[in-house]
Order: sequence, then C-alpha cells, then structure tokens
Amino acid sequence: MKKMIGACAVGSFVLAILAANNAGILAGAKGSAYKQVIPADAVAEITKRGQAKLKGSNAEAAGVEASILYAVAQNGKGAAEAKAPPAPDLDVLMNVFRNKAKKGEGIHPDLHYHPKVKNQDGMESFVMALAAKKLSDENVAKVSAELALLSYRMAGIASLTYGYPMKNQAKWEKISIDMRDASFELAEAATAKNAEGIFAASKKLETTCIDCHKAYR
Ligand code: HEC
Repeated sequence: MKKMIGACAVGSFVLAILAANNAGILAGAKGSAYKQVIPADAVAEITKRGQAKLKGSNAEAAGVEASILYAVAQNGKGAAEAKAPPAPDLDVLMNVFRNKAKKGEGIHPDLHYHPKVKNQDGMESFVMALAAKKLSDENVAKVSAELALLSYRMAGIASLTYGYPMKNQAKWEKISIDMRDASFELAEAATAKNAEGIFAASKKLETTCIDCHKAYR
C-alpha cells in the first residue's frame, strides 16, 4: 500500500479524494450473507467510550475514532443516515490492531484471560490467541461482554475498510465483508457464551486478516 502510493503521486491524490468519501457499508449490505446489525445498547456503549477517548486524543487518533464510531453507529439498528467523517489513511486505521506498545489501541482488561494476552495487549494478538485455542468456559464467562463490544468495533472497522479504493476492488470488498460478517458472528457467540462458536468465528476472522494481508499488504 505505502509503496504503491509512493510510486504514484497522482494515484495517491485520487486515493485521498476517494478515501475521504469512504462511507463504509451497512449491516444488511448487498453481497453480505449476514444481516445482523449492532444492538442499540452496544452502539451506545461503544459511542460513550469513544467520545470519552476523543477528548484526550491527538488529531490522527481522533480522526480514526470518529470514523469507527460513525461506522458502528451506521451498522446499528435503525441508524439514521449521517455524513461520514473524512476517512483515515488505511495504515492509520489498521494500526489500531497493533499491540499497545506499538501504538495500537490495546484491549479491555476483562479480555486479558491469559498472561501472554495481557502482556501483548493488542487486538491482533488477541484474535490470534482466540483462533489458536478454544477458551475454557471460565474464560468465556470472563470475556463475554467485552468480547462482544470489541467484535462490534471490529465489524465497524471492517465496514470502513470496505470503502477504500483498491486494485481488484471486488476481491477487496469481498474480504472486507467476510471480515465484517466474521466479527458479527464472533460478537453473537460471545454474547451467547458459546466457546465453540467463539473459536470458530475467531478462526474465520483471522483468516480474513491473513487473506487480505497476503493479497494487499
Ligand atoms: C480487506 C483487507 C484487509 C483486512 C480484512 C484486514 N487488513 Fe490489516 N491491513 C490491510 C492492508 C492493505 C494493510 C497495509 C496498510 C498500509 O501499510 O498502507 C494492513 C495493515 C495492517 C496492520 C499494520 C498496521 C500498519 O501500521 O500498517 C495490522 C496490525 C493489521 N493490518 C491488522 C489486521 C487484523 C488483525 C485484521 C483482521 C482482524 C486485518 N488487519 C484485516 C488490509 C486488510
């Protein structure tokens, strides 16, 4: 991505314009098998936390948060149409997945179900850990509520990712929808405290990260 932009200044200008109009996708979007939308209480909680975070953020972090909050709200039940904030550069958006030590956003303490996960403190390492080994029922109970919220947040990120103009756009959109749908599935399994479902959805979600990075990063 960075290399592509560096190689073509005009291309990067066009990309910036298109990305700035990134409106994301809605939950029931065409091409998606998954019709679930984000429950109103989850939208409210994610919005409340995001708005608190906005206050102490620099402009770049605030821009990312505003876009994620927008996407989550637009995927919420009965959302009214709203104007999308300017989309962040894709690498800036993706950076939220990194471990906290690498300036990622980190994960809620309730999700630190294992010393290694706590130590890494990042969304990407967390998804990898969930996909590597099925959670015990005790850990499912511990992570359930926060895992659902985090998954809805990731669904929002996926819905934003969809809107970036890329080479082979159809493939890009398909993987973004798969990421969004796997995130919804993970949220549902978390809410249902279903260890098997969390394991299966995490593996699906991880596959979308890997597939897309193989093709585009
Ligand atoms: C539809 C495509 C797509 C999906 C799905 C996707 N990514 Fe990415 N991701 C990218 C691209 C492209 C980059 C490189 C961005 C750049 O450097 O310009 C990237 C970069 C990253 C980075 C590095 C951030 C940086 O500073 O460049 C991390 C971490 C990351 N992705 C995590 C994830 C995780 C975790 C998932 C799945 C939960 C995921 N991504 C899903 C396309 C995707």
